[in-house]
Amino acid sequence: MTPERAAILISGRGSNMVAILERARDAGWLGAIALVASNRPEAPGLARAAALGVPTDVLDHRPFGRARRAEFDAALADRLQQAGARWVVLAGFMRILGPAFLTPFEGRVLNIHPSLLPAFPGLHTHERALEAGAARHGCTVHLVDTSLDGGPVLAQADVPVLGDDDADSLAARVLEQEHRLYPAVVESAVFGRLHTEFPPRPQAAAPEPA
Ligand code: GRF
Repeated sequence: MTPERAAILISGRGSNMVAILERARDAGWLGAIALVASNRPEAPGLARAAALGVPTDVLDHRPFGRARRAEFDAALADRLQQAGARWVVLAGFMRILGPAFLTPFEGRVLNIHPSLLPAFPGLHTHERALEAGAARHGCTVHLVDTSLDGGPVLAQADVPVLGDDDADSLAARVLEQEHRLYPAVVESAVFGRLHTEFPPRPQAAAPEPA
């Protein structure tokens, strides 16, 4: 089957994006990546995408300001559609997208979040997992809707929280799992296998014995 085309959105270093591009290259579907786009011209991930031969684009959100947020969303959706993208893969994209973006791509926007949702939506997830004394932590790939990190869960990977962890060591252990999980889910999406391989609501990890 010919894969459907996907755009990847980044704001920063783009390590998940690189993991996806490398998987796509190694498995022979890199041509399905229509575009890597960033809202920040200085995002280091843009050069990493270009080095892998993937087209890049920038739509800076700053000139739009708060008042024209929906205009930014519509302009971004338009760019991705022009590039032929059917799927949108958020990979460290630090903007909340509203209906002007989500409606044209409904059910086709993926995100990876560094916690075992529904635990710890939002920012600083590793610090919060440590503060809460969580025994396990991890990452979640989910569909994006208008709720903050609240769309249907597609897949999760978990890691133990160790006694001597700080936020950095925990983040690194989770990131390893992100790089394993996200490319596999994106591959399933573009090949039309998402719902058969990834049930919408997997069971949460079993609690540790007391
Ligand atoms: C990752 O921790 C991801 O879970 C979160 O943002 C971070 C992006 O990192 N959504 P990178 O840019 O992919 O390295």
